[in-house]
Amino acid sequence: MLKRSVRPRSRRTGVAGRVIVAGAVAAAVAVAGTAASAAPARTMPATMKANITKDLFGTLDDGTKVWRYTLTNSRIRVRIITYGGIVQTIEVPDRRGRVTNVALGFATLDDYVASNNPGPYFGALIGRYANRIAEGTFTLDGVTHQLPINNDPNSLHGGTDSFDKRVWTPTAGRNSAGDPTLRLALTSPDGDQGYPGTLRATATYTVTDDSIRVDYRATTDKATIVNLTNHSYFNLAGEGTGDINGHLMQLNANRYTPVDATLIPTGQLAPVAGTPLDFTKPVAIGDRIRDNFEQLVFGRGYDHNWVLNGSGFRLAARVTEPTTGRVLSMFTDQPGIQFYSGNFLDGTLYGTSGRQYRQGDGFALETQHFPDSPNHANFPSTVLRPGDTYRTSTVYTFGTTHH
Ligand code: BGC
Repeated sequence: MLKRSVRPRSRRTGVAGRVIVAGAVAAAVAVAGTAASAAPARTMPATMKANITKDLFGTLDDGTKVWRYTLTNSRIRVRIITYGGIVQTIEVPDRRGRVTNVALGFATLDDYVASNNPGPYFGALIGRYANRIAEGTFTLDGVTHQLPINNDPNSLHGGTDSFDKRVWTPTAGRNSAGDPTLRLALTSPDGDQGYPGTLRATATYTVTDDSIRVDYRATTDKATIVNLTNHSYFNLAGEGTGDINGHLMQLNANRYTPVDATLIPTGQLAPVAGTPLDFTKPVAIGDRIRDNFEQLVFGRGYDHNWVLNGSGFRLAARVTEPTTGRVLSMFTDQPGIQFYSGNFLDGTLYGTSGRQYRQGDGFALETQHFPDSPNHANFPSTVLRPGDTYRTSTVYTFGTTHH
């Protein structure tokens, strides 16, 4: 088991020792001069230099160092830690150029480790299997496998000691266009969390002018199942500024996968038309979230998988925050997207800037294969076999609107 706890605060290494990995010294100094915590309404230069730096974020109890990489490009700055591959902060301008952090998260490694059982999964890489597997069991090639039950009665987001709690191996670099990249690699041994096969997974973050791209790859030495995603929560008005009810959500999906009371899909692909899950046109998240509709009762709000229209790399979601004008557009090649309206945030956690997170203070959009696919023959397959490579990509683009 990789269960770890962190050292007491006094023994932990601070953020000294910042190392410039690549890029101009001047830009690195500019990055180093800003706090990760979300002081709202700062202004960044109109455009910044593409750059990547790293600093020590903390040290786990077993001595493992956790690094934090800061990837900067023209209009965006993103901080990612090697623990869980977590996107800690995403700083982007609003329509007037004011920059704030729009991703929910924590200020310290202690906070991430302390809250992770099972936790909110803020910004984390999720694996081996995003979302739920009914009763933690599935049968593959005639063999039944049992996964940990960490969301009674089901297995959620890969089990008790899942990818979001592992320290990934980083490689910082640049793509051919000069954009900063961070490749994170993890080897999950055969039988890890009950999943068959040695899975070698990578997630590569690339920060372009105004976007974050994540490219996932995995291979196996035995037939297995895999469904990787990132679990970032957003509040486009700024992390810690309150609820996301006024955000306008649009999903490129005419259908969704209804769930039972334990949030396991029934197997149907139901039309969204005529329901509060219809986001084919932009609608404020809060408008219908308390409607008397059984699916919203089960989820305590939105916590569903939408069946994305079309195939190939395409627009999946567009979210607009009217007061700041910030717009998030998400693109993916995956068949589904989980829209989760932060229903289980309950005021017990304090975020990056020290403010309390209550129900609905952030939303997550997780590109994925449908939950519990291994138990539904009519859902697209999540089986990965030796010799094949699992590949998927998601792009998050941050812009603004003037209306
Ligand atoms: C799930 C929620 C769960 C949350 C954990 C989401 O992906 O759909 O049911 O509570 O992750 O933070």
